[in-house]
Amino acid sequence: MDKKDGSQLIRGLEGVVAAETKLCDLDGKNGRLAYCGYDIADLARQATFEEVCHLLWHGELPAAVQLDKTTLALIAAREIPRELLQTFRLMPKATDPMRALQAAVAMLGMHDPDATDNAHAANLRKAVRLTSQLATAICAHHRIRSGQEPVAPASDLSHAGNFLYMLTGARPSAVVTKAFDASLTLYAEHELNASTFTTRVITSTQSDLHSAVAGGLGALKGPLHGGAGEAVMRTLLEIGEVANVDAFSDKALAEKRRLMGFGHRVYTAGDPRAAILKGLAEEACRQSGQFKWFEMAVKLHARINAAKKLIPNVDFYSAPLFYSLGVPVDLFTPVIATGRIAGWTANIVEQHDDNRLIRPRGDYVGAGRRPFVPLGQRGA
Ligand code: ACO
Repeated sequence: MDKKDGSQLIRGLEGVVAAETKLCDLDGKNGRLAYCGYDIADLARQATFEEVCHLLWHGELPAAVQLDKTTLALIAAREIPRELLQTFRLMPKATDPMRALQAAVAMLGMHDPDATDNAHAANLRKAVRLTSQLATAICAHHRIRSGQEPVAPASDLSHAGNFLYMLTGARPSAVVTKAFDASLTLYAEHELNASTFTTRVITSTQSDLHSAVAGGLGALKGPLHGGAGEAVMRTLLEIGEVANVDAFSDKALAEKRRLMGFGHRVYTAGDPRAAILKGLAEEACRQSGQFKWFEMAVKLHARINAAKKLIPNVDFYSAPLFYSLGVPVDLFTPVIATGRIAGWTANIVEQHDDNRLIRPRGDYVGAGRRPFVPLGQRGA
């Protein structure tokens, strides 16, 4: 629909290009995705999450010396302030982890020496710090709400390995660490998805990095976005057994139920991340002795695709993967944030470096102009 001034209403901003970016090349028609020119499959298989962070923050894969520098900076930033741990202890035990995380990011901003400095170098320092601290905060909050003491970060583990260690208190195997590391890479960046767009909108007002990330977390939480992974696992748990998939699918299709983990605004030929995560989930479910979740997902995928041509998105196979790695279901979205913060912060840096206020228009469809009615003259 055209507005009176000639501008056009585009619901959900579908197909609208709102920023130039050097970070993510998303080819939805052909189901291809690359970060700074590198195919996602190559990065997931051959690069570590630390290398991907460096790539997104600096535009190039690091040489060995540069990687050491980025890795050491991430390790050095892992501790979170004592006051934040104390705050977690004061939060109601039932607080959902994403809400706790939003509060944690706001608080980490209060303790950050560069909090209000939006210069390129300061933003990069904050990107490193917050990427590290976010992982520690998620695990510490989870341990405290579960009545356990937080596990101090281990400086000899990778970002992925240390996350699992801080979550469980046990050092993960190399195979488990690699699967988790690859999933962080697969979630690290995805162009102008709802949460990244949110971080850009906030940044465009010349607000700061912590405020933008806190906003991104709020957008990611919704079930149409990152919250879908958790919903997928709840669906699989509801189905319970492989033998129940057909009956579940028939009922869900008849009820025209929205099936979490299926469909995508941009991908029509398939989400390349889902294909990689499918392989990781198969291996992890087999290794952990919980293969039924993978089998169930494969059967559900086939049934729903045959009936509605819906493709599984990134959140579909990550659900059985994370579950078999021992991640609690309500931590799936925080885990997605653990990866996506690399992309959020890279987008924030890019937006600050070439900023224009993001301010679209609304198409007013309410009452026409009318005379003001004083309070005493209004009806009940
Ligand atoms: N289950 C059932 N039907 C669906 C689904 C689904 N998951 N996804 C799309 N459809 C159908 C809609 O009913 C609609 O059909 P209609 O035209 O007959 O009414 C059509 O496909 C188009 O759907 P829209 O919701 O208009 O598509 P949109 O581009 O707005 O939505 C979205 C994309 C939100 C991802 C959608 O596919 C969805 O809700 N999926 C489930 C939630 C999900 O998995 N989100 C994670 C996305 S990936 C990520 O954010 C990390």
